[in-house]
Amino acid sequence: MKLTNAAAFFIFVPTLTPALDPFSASILTGGAAVAWQLLSPQSWLKCRFLECCNMRDTLNLSVLKMDLDRKVFGQHLAIQIVLRALSANMHSERPRKPLVMSFHGWTGTGKTFVSSIIAENLYQFNIPRRRFVHHFNTVLHFPYLSHVHLYKEQLQNWIRGNVSACPRSLFIFSEMDQMPHGLIDSIMPFLGYHEEIDGIYYGKAIFIFLNNAGGDKVTEIALDYWRSLKRREDIPVKKLQSLLSEEIFRNKNSGFFHSQLIQKNLIDYFIPFLPLEYKHVRECVRQELRVQGHPENEDLIAEIALAMTDYPSEERLYSSKGCKTVESRVTLST
Ligand SMILES: *[C@@H]1O[C@H](CO)[C@@H](O)[C@H](O)[C@H]1NC(C)=O
Ligand SMILES: *[C@@H]1O[C@H](CO)[C@@H](O)[C@H](O)[C@H]1NC(C)=O
Repeated sequence: MKLTNAAAFFIFVPTLTPALDPFSASILTGGAAVAWQLLSPQSWLKCRFLECCNMRDTLNLSVLKMDLDRKVFGQHLAIQIVLRALSANMHSERPRKPLVMSFHGWTGTGKTFVSSIIAENLYQFNIPRRRFVHHFNTVLHFPYLSHVHLYKEQLQNWIRGNVSACPRSLFIFSEMDQMPHGLIDSIMPFLGYHEEIDGIYYGKAIFIFLNNAGGDKVTEIALDYWRSLKRREDIPVKKLQSLLSEEIFRNKNSGFFHSQLIQKNLIDYFIPFLPLEYKHVRECVRQELRVQGHPENEDLIAEIALAMTDYPSEERLYSSKGCKTVESRVTLST
């Protein structure tokens, strides 16, 4: 389609030009080239200056892996699953369903951070990301229980509109645990196995749910492992995923209580974010000192990390806030 359009332009334009002097002819041809660039959905010029849909998949998995390994601490399980999921989806010409991932863990463990690193890597270039990355904050976008009917319709329209404008759209739903009951099931039709729905193909879309629900479960399992002197690296991913999906389905405050998305297996990956230990919080503090331009004072790093590891009250093994308050703590103590 795009090739024939382009060919038509360049065959058509020269046949007109003999009637004109060389100067006007070159203006006409140049103008035509610019017009074609602006009209064609794939052109770089349009991407630079106007709205643009990133048609080519530019995700470089090794760069993404480096980014995640360097910036996210203590989440080897999550990183491993995310990379595998994205790799499978990206390597398929025409995925049979959209990629759906659900992140679970305590606050401050890196769920939002990982989703924004994915977004940055998916859409490089200097194109405005808001065209493809759609962030729904439950508390902000869907605050009233009584408006669920309205929200359902709105959400469907947004997703339909955005995916038809750009198939590789990324939808991030944060604070899923605050989502009114039943609302998320309204997007079920888009997450299934379909060739197309009303002429729109959804297989390239990516959905990420961020959820504090399930965090207690993940922590409980990590703690069991620690108490039986096993490494957190050895926690089996499969077992954790199925425990999470059960837990979320049963939990009234998970946004997925008795959800069809779970019943129909439309969520491809339940991704655990483990609670952060002293050594991980240290890394966060170290990084924050660097960001704020301070020297890496080892005493201060130890002091802040120690104060933050507060759970369970006897062992004080994990930080109940993850790395969430590191920034302000560093600001206050430097
Ligand atoms: C990904 O990025 C690395 C480092 O910038 C580069 O060496 C590699 O060729 C890239 N891979 C692809 C598939 O573009
Ligand atoms: C895309 O989603 C946004 C919300 O992120 C919404 O405001 C916008 O209207 C949607 N676009 C279309 C074309 O539906």
